[in-house]
Amino acid sequence: MTPIGIFDSGYGGLTILSEIRRLLPDYDYLYLGDNARAPYGSRSFDIVYEFTLQAVKYLFDRGCRLVILACNTASAKALRTIQQNDLPAIDPDRRVLGVIIPTVEALDNLTSSRHVGVVATPGTILSHSYSIETAKLYPDIEVSEIPCPMWVPIIENNEADGDGADYFVKKYCDEMLHRDPEIDTMLLGCTHYPLLMPKIRKYIPDNIRIIPQGELVARSLENYLTRHPEIAGQCTKGGTVHFLTTENPEKFDRLASLFLSTPVTSEKITLV
Ligand code: DGL
Repeated sequence: MTPIGIFDSGYGGLTILSEIRRLLPDYDYLYLGDNARAPYGSRSFDIVYEFTLQAVKYLFDRGCRLVILACNTASAKALRTIQQNDLPAIDPDRRVLGVIIPTVEALDNLTSSRHVGVVATPGTILSHSYSIETAKLYPDIEVSEIPCPMWVPIIENNEADGDGADYFVKKYCDEMLHRDPEIDTMLLGCTHYPLLMPKIRKYIPDNIRIIPQGELVARSLENYLTRHPEIAGQCTKGGTVHFLTTENPEKFDRLASLFLSTPVTSEKITLV
């Protein structure tokens, strides 16, 4: 079997996996959450790169020929180095793709005011990947970036629906509205954040669109597979999904089943 690998620091990549499976249900998928070491969002460039490379190599060893980094932090801090420096040495025929470029590409059709807000982890915001990539494609779009360091820990600890979450959701939403009152679109630049959607919607006025990445990434992958039949042809189509976690698998199963609304049974693995 040659599944498509989907990697995230934890549960966030599940929001990408479910949209990819909705659009491309026939392929086999292997999901890896590095829950033992999440969150990645406040870690240094070197560490995020090291952890992400370990995960990519592990997924390759399990047969993947195509891996999606379903994590903005890893896409911002590790993707380019892996693509340019590591892949040629590991296997030039394998592919690693991220989530930032597919999201930025969609911006043109999403905003009329040409003012876009991005909420993301401190790591993604510090990299300025969203403003840099947007400036290359659509220089007339102004991007305001707000780091939300508490959102991933809230989700990883299953507090997304709790009353305590409201304080930090409101805090960063208010910062965004204050930073640029002209935004008509707010991108969730972290794959965990859709799990906070009901609360985010509560604190962002209805005239501002809140955009999760899952569907954008899924459409971009579909497009990529059409343009690259040599890669698509190597990915098997059995319609299966298998889950790997670096933390306690029972905890992963419980939370992942909640997030995906379907029973999940994961396998514990170690990344080195
Ligand atoms: N889902 C990751 C992202 O998209 C989460 C980061 C984290 O572990 O802090 O950035």
